[in-house]
Amino acid sequence: MQELSSLVEQALAEVAECAGLAALDEVRVRWLGKKGTLTEQLKSLGGLPAAERPAAGQRINDAKARVQEAIEARREALTREEIERALAAGRIDVTLPGRGERRGGLHPVTKARLRIEALFQRAGFDVATGPEIEDDFHNFEALNFPPNHPARAMHDTFYFPDGKLLRTHTSPVQIRAMLERGAPLAVVAPGRVYRCDSDMTHSPMFHQIEGLKVGEAVSFANLKAMLHGFLQAFFEQDLAMRLRPSYFPFTEPSAEVDMSCVFCGGEGCRTCKHTGWLEIAGCGMVHPNVLMASGIDAERYSGYAFGMGIDRLAMLRYGVNDLRLFFENDLRFLEQFRTL
Ligand code: DAH
Repeated sequence: MQELSSLVEQALAEVAECAGLAALDEVRVRWLGKKGTLTEQLKSLGGLPAAERPAAGQRINDAKARVQEAIEARREALTREEIERALAAGRIDVTLPGRGERRGGLHPVTKARLRIEALFQRAGFDVATGPEIEDDFHNFEALNFPPNHPARAMHDTFYFPDGKLLRTHTSPVQIRAMLERGAPLAVVAPGRVYRCDSDMTHSPMFHQIEGLKVGEAVSFANLKAMLHGFLQAFFEQDLAMRLRPSYFPFTEPSAEVDMSCVFCGGEGCRTCKHTGWLEIAGCGMVHPNVLMASGIDAERYSGYAFGMGIDRLAMLRYGVNDLRLFFENDLRFLEQFRTL
């Protein structure tokens, strides 16, 4: 007991004498470290009669705590002293030019997405999302791509060893939305999609937005009007639109959507490859098999769906001619969109 309190006295005196943080740390190791003096005391407890051990252990731990506290207090004081010293010694040159603040901005693809979402929300659509790691059921099967269906080959799919995949389109969100919400419903689903494909106009990751409206009397004419209205609102100009027959497993009938070229107004230019038209979306009436796979009564309800590339819409709206610019994230490029 006597010995312990004189040890504590000695430790506290050493702490008080420390003039710097390094010295303080040495003191800490010497007293409280793995082989420190007070730590050794605890180890020697084994030599005591069992009845005395708890009380002695308690005293040693109290002693350690007192020393620990003193070290913490000294550390704080020394740190503050060091800062004071640095402040007193240093000089601030108030004549130096400031660093300035540079304001950030949204990425053009984000801007385009928000704009598309807002326009569809105004027309009564909710924004829905789904996972980027999908399963075969949602990405293919429920969308009426049976196993080994040739249309699966149109999508260069990234697979995981467990059979899951990176979604190749936003269409699986159609299935999720119908299963979760039932009919009637109207949603748009923006997001990242992935295909094993990379060149001037293809990136392995790109963005799509899916549209889906299901109700009791949803018609192809409704689809056409909605898309035409959207395109004119998005590009803020009068545009012609045409539908060309096409094929998607999940729609019947299916169509490809063209709009008159936003750069030449249909006269013909490099962007539209002198056709006057730009391909901008795929669409169609939801296939009854898709409604049924999603638990919706295909006798009672019909629906339309469409899918568009957000990156492409952004390129056309902002006059960007190379898709890769969106993904390189060069600030000199991105800064041009800050105020748009
Ligand atoms: N999922 C199609 C694709 O990525 C795009 C698409 C076409 C979506 C027609 C639709 C649709 O909803 O009706 O190529």
